Amino acid sequence: MNQYIVQTNNLTKRFKGKKVVNGVNLEIKKGEIYGFLGPNGAGKTTTIRMLLGLMKPSYGSIKIFNKDLKKDKLPILRKVGSLVESPSYYGHLTARENLEALRRILNVPKKRIDEVLEIVRLTNESKRPVKGFSLGMKQRLGIAASLLGNPELLILDEPTNGLDPSGIIEMRELIKKMPEEHGITVIVSSHLLSEIDQMATQVGIITKGSMIFQDSISVLRERARSQIQIKTNHDEAAWRTLLANGIKADYRDGQMIIEEKENQLIAKAVEQLVQHRFSIYRVEEQKMSLEDIFLEITKEASSL
Ligand SMILES: Nc1ncnc2c1ncn2[C@@H]1O[C@H](COP(=O)(O)OP(=O)(O)OP(=O)(O)O)[C@@H](O)[C@H]1O
Ligand SMILES: [Mg+2]
Repeated sequence: MNQYIVQTNNLTKRFKGKKVVNGVNLEIKKGEIYGFLGPNGAGKTTTIRMLLGLMKPSYGSIKIFNKDLKKDKLPILRKVGSLVESPSYYGHLTARENLEALRRILNVPKKRIDEVLEIVRLTNESKRPVKGFSLGMKQRLGIAASLLGNPELLILDEPTNGLDPSGIIEMRELIKKMPEEHGITVIVSSHLLSEIDQMATQVGIITKGSMIFQDSISVLRERARSQIQIKTNHDEAAWRTLLANGIKADYRDGQMIIEEKENQLIAKAVEQLVQHRFSIYRVEEQKMSLEDIFLEITKEASSL
C-alpha cells in the first residue's frame, strides 16, 4: 500500500508522434482537492481522459486506489465520478428524470437521487425540464450525476468554464465541501491559478505536456520573488546614485526596484540615498500575484 489515491508513472500520450502528455507523475493523496493547472492545450483533458479509461496511454501506468487501471478498470471506475466537457442530458426530461435514468444503470437506491439533488442544491428545481436550465444549473446537475454512484474520487475537467461569477462561486463552494462532508477526493482542472488557489490544497502545473510543478499551494507561494520598491523625490537620479555606489537596482516604468530582499542591502541603499540628500517617501515590498507566479513558471519551463 502507498499513500496515494491516484498515482501515475511516466504517463505519456502521443498523437501523430507528438507527445501531448509527456512523462507525467501525478501524486494525489486521499482527501485532497488537487488543482490540475495548465494553459490551453497543456494536456489536462488528455491526462484526465486517460485517468478515466477513455483513452489509452501511449506508455506509462496509472494506479487508482492502489490498483492498476489497466487490470482493474471496472471496479476502479465504479468508484470514480467525473465531469468532462459539458455533460449531456435529455432536455425534455426533468432533472430528477435524468438522474433516474442514470440511477437505473448504476443500480443505486432511489433515495440517492434526493441526496445528490440536495448536495448540489437543485431540490427545488428537480421537476423542471432540463432544457430550461441555466449553464450553472446544468453544471450542478452534472456534479449531481457524477455523485450518484457514491464515488470516492471525483474528477472535474474545468467545471467552472463558461459560468458567470456567481456560478463560479457556487461551483467552488460545492467542490470545497467534498472531502470533509462527503469523504471524496477531488481532482479539478483549470487554466486559472487564482481559481485553483481558492479551492485546492495541492497543485500540479502542466505545460506543453510536462508537469513542471507539483506541491502545496503554500510552497508555490514561497516561490514568489518579492521585490522592494523605493520611492523618492527623484527616482531616476536616485537609481543612478545607487548604481554608482555599487548597489544593484533597476529602474523600470518610472519605478526604482531592488530585487534582493536582504535587509542589509535595503538598509545600505536607504542610507546612501539619505546621504545623497534624496527624500525617501516609501520603502515597500511588492509581492508577485499568483497569476504572475504561474506565468513566470510556465515561461521558465517553455524557455528550457
Ligand atoms: N484526439 C486528438 N488528436 C490529436 N491531437 C489531440 C487530440 N486530443 C488532444 N490533442 C492535442 O493535444 C494537446 C493537449 O490537448 P488537451 O485537450 O489535453 O489540452 P488541455 O490542457 O485540456 O487544454 P484546454 O485548456 O484548452 O482544455 C493539444 O495540442 C491538442 O491539440
Ligand atoms: Mg481541456
